[in-house]
Amino acid sequence: MDKNKISIVILAAGKGSRMKSAKAKVLHTICGKEMLYHIIKSSRIISDDITVVVAHQKEVVIKQMSLYFDDINFVVQDDLNFPGTGGAMKNVCTKNEKVLVLNGDMPLITPQSLYGFLKSDSDIVMSVFDLQNPDGYGRVIIDNGQVQRIVEQKDASVSELQVTTVNAGVYAFSKKILDKYIPLLNNDNAQNEYYLTDVISMARADGLKITPLLVDEEHFKGINSKLDLAVAEEIMQNQIKANWMNSGVIMQLPSTIYIEEGVVFEGECIVENGCRITGESKIINSHIKAHSVIEDSIVKNSDVGPMAHLRPDSNIEDTHIGNFVEIKKSSLKGVKAGHLSYIGDATVNEGTNIGAGVITCNYDGINKYKTTIGKNVFIGSDSQLIAPIILEDDVMIAAGTTVRSGKILSGELAVSSAKLRVIKDFYYKFFKK
Ligand code: UD1
Ligand code: CA
Repeated sequence: MDKNKISIVILAAGKGSRMKSAKAKVLHTICGKEMLYHIIKSSRIISDDITVVVAHQKEVVIKQMSLYFDDINFVVQDDLNFPGTGGAMKNVCTKNEKVLVLNGDMPLITPQSLYGFLKSDSDIVMSVFDLQNPDGYGRVIIDNGQVQRIVEQKDASVSELQVTTVNAGVYAFSKKILDKYIPLLNNDNAQNEYYLTDVISMARADGLKITPLLVDEEHFKGINSKLDLAVAEEIMQNQIKANWMNSGVIMQLPSTIYIEEGVVFEGECIVENGCRITGESKIINSHIKAHSVIEDSIVKNSDVGPMAHLRPDSNIEDTHIGNFVEIKKSSLKGVKAGHLSYIGDATVNEGTNIGAGVITCNYDGINKYKTTIGKNVFIGSDSQLIAPIILEDDVMIAAGTTVRSGKILSGELAVSSAKLRVIKDFYYKFFKK
């Protein structure tokens, strides 16, 4: 595919009122990334001239996308005077003769799903699909096998509302057509907006050929509401998980697993039911047991869970993490932490055993402090390590010990538990039995 042949324009300036949210619609996320991110990512694979039209919350949209991409042209729509998808095209200037226009609310498109638009030599290629429930979409009026026009739902007559062939919101135009018809659009409709879709009827009236390209909802679903967002997320989840399973990852009850788009698996991995793996996590030759949550962390040659929580910046290698263990911003190599622990802002080295209920007290209410634990350390159950603290190699901490800030040297045992008192018959006296 020659990237230089096509320009892509992504319309992302709308308010998205049906989302009922203070956040701009195109910044709502699916599988961990903004809808607009997904669209730009796919677009860049087939084009090196990408324009994103912005207006509503333009600063936030531009700032957020600039975190990922540095080669996007942003164009600001005059949405006050020229609202609507046609108004959005007014200030656009593209490099190439062929222009693919995409709505900014269709995050499921893939480069492959767009190839059909690039192949055709028609004046206009537009996307259509047939839906049992066409609610919200523009209806495509076809006569004698020819697309005549697109009627928006709000402008449609009762009989037009029955039409189930709808406009999916992707169009390939020649630059000439856009230059000719965009200035001719008017806002004589129910929403008083300039509709890009009116280009179709104008071009048709001039005898131009409009080719409908049948697409599928799985790739072209438009997101208008939070319900649409949830449906699209499920579709993308299924694609992400299918890809990983095809690459060799075992997933038990995959419908219960949530994996974000930035997650990477390598080698032989098993993910049990109910797991959530997010951000830029990397899982290498590991077994993630039921209902564990892993956020922006690396897990290598390890087993985690069930019901463990790895918070961002955890780096786990050759390690066993058992149930109800929470790890944050810590690095554990060759460690066993089998039950009920919190390890935060810590480094733990090979051969170390962390008993049940061990807690690194990393926060004093104002600052966070580091815990450094050496090799072959044995930390007895229910101990608290008050950071900043260093446990050198070959240290023992007795069960129930509170170790205050400082350093325990190699070979030492730290014990802080009070001497046990045993009071005879206390129980019987207390309960008067
Ligand atoms: C649009 C189409 C409809 C199609 C549907 C497919 C028009 C008039 N209608 O309807 O035929 O079935 O998409 O999903 O085009 N936008 C701007 N500036 C604006 C208004 C919108 O850039 O002034 C952007 C939005 O940010 C959004 C995209 O254009 O990403 C589509 O806008 P939206 O309001 O969702 O259009 P629909 O009503 O869904
Ligand atoms: Ca839409």
